[in-house]
Amino acid sequence: MSRHFLQQTFFLAILIIVTASANLITDIDITWGDGRAKMLDNGNLLQLSLDKFSGSGFQSKQEYLFGWINMQIKLVPGNSAGTVTAYYLSSQGPTHDEIDYEFLGNVSGEPYILHTNIFTQGKGNREQQFYLWFDPRLDFHTYSILWNHQQILFYVDGTPIRVFKNSQGMGVPYPKDQPMRLYSSLWDADDWATRGGLVKTDWTQSPFVASYRKFSSDACVWAGGKSSCSASSGSWWDQSLDADGSRKLKWVREKYMIYDYCRDHARFPQGLPAECSLSP
Ligand SMILES: *[C@@H]1O[C@H](CO)[C@@H](O)[C@H](O)[C@H]1NC(C)=O
Repeated sequence: MSRHFLQQTFFLAILIIVTASANLITDIDITWGDGRAKMLDNGNLLQLSLDKFSGSGFQSKQEYLFGWINMQIKLVPGNSAGTVTAYYLSSQGPTHDEIDYEFLGNVSGEPYILHTNIFTQGKGNREQQFYLWFDPRLDFHTYSILWNHQQILFYVDGTPIRVFKNSQGMGVPYPKDQPMRLYSSLWDADDWATRGGLVKTDWTQSPFVASYRKFSSDACVWAGGKSSCSASSGSWWDQSLDADGSRKLKWVREKYMIYDYCRDHARFPQGLPAECSLSP
């Protein structure tokens, strides 16, 4: 057996171990909420809850520097107005990087808003907001972050909804040096979340519960100041949108996008941020 073959097999074995993560207990730590966050069904299901006194949250055990992160989430059912379910990657410190999904609840029958943002070197202000093409309270749906050297892609059930391209060439910092951890939390934000804060949380409906399952990460894991990443990582490593992906992204932007900072000329009277000149 050649050394090369052994090496390939070795990488493949690592990849399989990293990719196959069947159980939330092995990957996730509940971090706050004093019993309001629970692992159920032998670690196949995690629930966060929120009541008048506190929300709750969890984080991944690992930190990542680039990766393909997937989680199925079922958002707070019924009247979830005022609640926010956040699901994001973030590094630490004042110049942190962050890739955010925030789900803003609504009264029964009215649509959630999916709010997204990207922070690089501590600076955000890159909001895009969407309605979804389904009611995210009724079923589990997969929310993914693909983060490689060239771009960050947000996918909902495999459909790309947002791209942030590496535009370092234009002087825009890109997250590439700081390892990030996955976080999620459920909390009360009725001062701004629903119709800009007009609709308040109805505490008679509490506890509010969001459910999670099937976490998977095919990622470069950060440990001891190093990322265990190599060119033999999965296809996400150099993935970008193909023609079909671009078509789907366009469909989402045309039909479901409700806010794009890159179109908000009133907000940036000195001119839109540099990365806005890239399509889309
Ligand atoms: C809640 O429903 C109202 C009315 O349909 C809508 O304007 C708003 O965008 C919805 N979502 C949130 C989070 O406010």
